[in-house]
Amino acid sequence: MKIQLSKMETKFLLNKTSIQIVEKKIDLFGNFIHHNNISSIFIIVDSNSKKYCLKDFISINSSLANSKVIEINPGEASKSLQVLNQICLQLVNLQIDRNSLIINLGGGVVSDVGGFVASVIKRGVKFINIPTTLMAQIDASIGGKVALNINKYKNQVGLFNDPDKVIIYPDYLKTLPPEDILFAQAEVFKYGLISSQLFWNKITSKKFSITSSLKLIISDCIRMKVDIVNQDYYDYSERRKLNFGHSISHAIESLFFNEFDPISHGLALSAGIICETYISQIRFGFSDSKLYTIVNTLLNHFPYIFIDSKYDVQILDFIHGDKKKSNSSLNFTLIKDIGSAVVNCSVSNEEILSSLEFYRKCRI
Ligand SMILES: NC(=O)c1ccc[n+]([C@@H]2O[C@H](COP(=O)([O-])OP(=O)(O)OC[C@H]3O[C@@H](n4cnc5c(N)ncnc54)[C@H](O)[C@@H]3O)[C@@H](O)[C@H]2O)c1
Repeated sequence: MKIQLSKMETKFLLNKTSIQIVEKKIDLFGNFIHHNNISSIFIIVDSNSKKYCLKDFISINSSLANSKVIEINPGEASKSLQVLNQICLQLVNLQIDRNSLIINLGGGVVSDVGGFVASVIKRGVKFINIPTTLMAQIDASIGGKVALNINKYKNQVGLFNDPDKVIIYPDYLKTLPPEDILFAQAEVFKYGLISSQLFWNKITSKKFSITSSLKLIISDCIRMKVDIVNQDYYDYSERRKLNFGHSISHAIESLFFNEFDPISHGLALSAGIICETYISQIRFGFSDSKLYTIVNTLLNHFPYIFIDSKYDVQILDFIHGDKKKSNSSLNFTLIKDIGSAVVNCSVSNEEILSSLEFYRKCRI
């Protein structure tokens, strides 16, 4: 895929979803509300997006002044059927109807939960995502996948449903803790590894800083995601490229969620990418120097996560319970080179265990 290194696009279309990166503070909702005959508006937030973004968001978009706000707790634990039940109950008590609009203002947790709620309440109402984290601006709010966790397993109940709009205010990243900006960059590296050597070269060049070029990076990542999802919306082939690193990282996230304190999706992904790059090298035989270029780039960027070998079996168990298993073999996305992903690769338990051992040896 060709990435233009200096051109920043601000508008994209994915199915019916218009995706817009905005800097101008103008009301973007008045026309939409009028044309769609919207009867009532509900804004779903977590306590941080409420604290840092809600007031500004409503002050820009004056047509939202009479919206009702529904607040959830921050964090992965809110992606649950219990929280879904609580939100739906509040919406019914507030007399939501089929012409209502739900706006999800927050990170990936809010867009996953809020998108799920909007898809099922009253058999579905319109919804709009306003992502307020880097992870959500480059990935989670885009593509129409919404999901909840079941106990220890991530994203086990979900569906495909497109938001009407995704509106991205890069300014909302200013209040995000630096570690959240950092960890989301694991997805940025993933985009390079699966789609574009040119993009990988750009983000790993010594002269380039992702943090000081966030708007350009958001635009590049959205373009790559839109291009992939447009080819395979329902995730049978091309879209699975986006899963690179995630089979092992979801299991690491689940392990920490159950045994220790939760760790962020992006931090777990940095370890997942290293493990799955190792498996890719065994499978496709690219050079040691390429393997270590990728591994060292990630280790220099993200903190190392210590995972004792006594948890390896549990990690395998999580992977076997995850969604990428089909016909009893484990189905991974691997890379045969930088910028070139291969979907539907059958991977053995032994390969996964040796990749975890490799990751342990990466500890400096
Ligand atoms: N549906 C998809 O396609 C998709 C893709 C990638 C990730 N995800 C999901 O997204 C979730 C991770 O998303 P995330 O990293 O955004 O996590 P998150 O939603 O938990 O947000 C991270 C933290 O930032 C806080 N926050 C949000 N906006 C803020 C702001 N502007 N200022 C200060 N703090 C703010 C949140 O309250 C939270 O504490 C995971 O559950 C993952 O599975 C979904």
